[in-house]
Amino acid sequence: MKRRPALLGAALLALLCACAPEAARAQAPITGSLGADAEGPVISRHIYGHFAEHLGRSIYGGFWEKNAAGAYAYREDVIAALRKLRIPNVRWPGGCFADTYHWKDGIGPRAQRPTIINTHWGGVVEDNSFGTHEFMELAAKLGAEPYIVGNVGSGSVQEMAQWVEYMTFGGESPMARLRAANGRAEPWRVRFWGVGNENWGCGGNMRPEYYADLYRNYATYLNNYGDNRLYKIAGGANSEDYNWTDVLMRQAGRMMDGLSLHYYTIVHNWDRKGSATDFNEQEWTRALERALHIEELITRHSTIMDRYDPQRRVGLIVDEWGIWHDVEPGTNPGFLYQQNTLRDALIAAVSLDIFNRHAERVRMANIAQTLNVLQAMILTEPGKMVLTPTYHVFEMYAPHHDAVSLPLTLRAGMFESGGVRIPHVTGSASRDSSGQVFLTLSNLDPREAHALRLGVHGRRYGSVSGRVLTAPAMQAHNTFAQPEVVRPQPFTGARLSGDALEVTLPPRSVVALALRP
Ligand code: AHR
Repeated sequence: MKRRPALLGAALLALLCACAPEAARAQAPITGSLGADAEGPVISRHIYGHFAEHLGRSIYGGFWEKNAAGAYAYREDVIAALRKLRIPNVRWPGGCFADTYHWKDGIGPRAQRPTIINTHWGGVVEDNSFGTHEFMELAAKLGAEPYIVGNVGSGSVQEMAQWVEYMTFGGESPMARLRAANGRAEPWRVRFWGVGNENWGCGGNMRPEYYADLYRNYATYLNNYGDNRLYKIAGGANSEDYNWTDVLMRQAGRMMDGLSLHYYTIVHNWDRKGSATDFNEQEWTRALERALHIEELITRHSTIMDRYDPQRRVGLIVDEWGIWHDVEPGTNPGFLYQQNTLRDALIAAVSLDIFNRHAERVRMANIAQTLNVLQAMILTEPGKMVLTPTYHVFEMYAPHHDAVSLPLTLRAGMFESGGVRIPHVTGSASRDSSGQVFLTLSNLDPREAHALRLGVHGRRYGSVSGRVLTAPAMQAHNTFAQPEVVRPQPFTGARLSGDALEVTLPPRSVVALALRP
């Protein structure tokens, strides 16, 4: 009889440890500091940019769908959900597709537009029903700026120059007349213009010296008409190809406004990337470690750019990033359709935090891609849609847009699995024009909560509020049957105590906090 309470106590303790490993263990809190009054670079809202390629069900069956009568229409439900993200820009028409695309195929009466084969993505027929006018209307509906990628690989200088004229020239000219004949008298405003895509690969398999010369040639004829000013973006490096950045900056740096960088998070290798939903703790850790690697890439590419451009006039444009999994079983391998779990949300969060912290050089980034392709915001089926965990991160991070980046130091320990180590906690901070500080923190530890004590320097804050994105399992995701498994919830684990902010982050979570005076 006497031993019962003790046994019960031990059993209860064992149960608690098994069911709630997230209960913060008695370990010292992570310490750090936040410079609330610092004057850092502005986090361009364009870091939260998007990418919609003619690939799989991104455009057709995503943004642009045939109705029962066989007529194309925009998915207004999808557009309404995306407007909540305050999308600053959308990159189009590719990707690899861009260097096969001839823009004149996509204008004029739809019934008369030629069909082509989408050679990169599944070999499907592209009917060109979604072209320049349809894209510009989509951008307007989203409230986003267009980011056009022109064709260098299989196009010509004349073709690209005429596209600029068609879109932006307001006077009397052959291209302006053609635009008016197609129903648009007024020119559009177009700022962001990419000169080819992945010119080292699907965009022409070029050497950097050759592409640098081609870039100079193309850029010469991309005119600024009226008061429209193009921001010209040169095709940049693949991941660690530092030589590409060096050659481009040396040979063509003075003629560009931005230089791109592409980096995809791959858990294993390109032949076996791994499942989006069926993974273990080691693969969670490996994915995050690979995502965090982009900080080294940004630092090293920026250091090379600094040599040629110490004033940092040229922006580093990370116009393709995100996690690339194996396609969902049973789907077209050429369509790159993948599910999206809490792990993908953490990948998005740590990547955006890195871009925020490097806002002095990173001026734009575009997640690949917005709908139904790779690390998508929204998955669709006819008449249905589901918001992914990544969507929620983009929505939670929106207060960082155009805010001042603040220095944040965290003295965090490391989580280790299978010999791979990642920090327990990462984050970024910013201050908006009203003086409010916004702090995003991710607990990458899949097992345990972590407590944080941050010194907030320079200003005093009176209140803190926040939201958290987490779930009981690393693999948690939203489906058409269960669309709300992973969604933001109010967060009550933060408090201000004098000039210190104390936060307890649940395991595998993203937390967004607002500090008000
Ligand atoms: O985003 C999918 C593809 O990945 C793009 O078309 C290409 O630029 C990259 O290799």
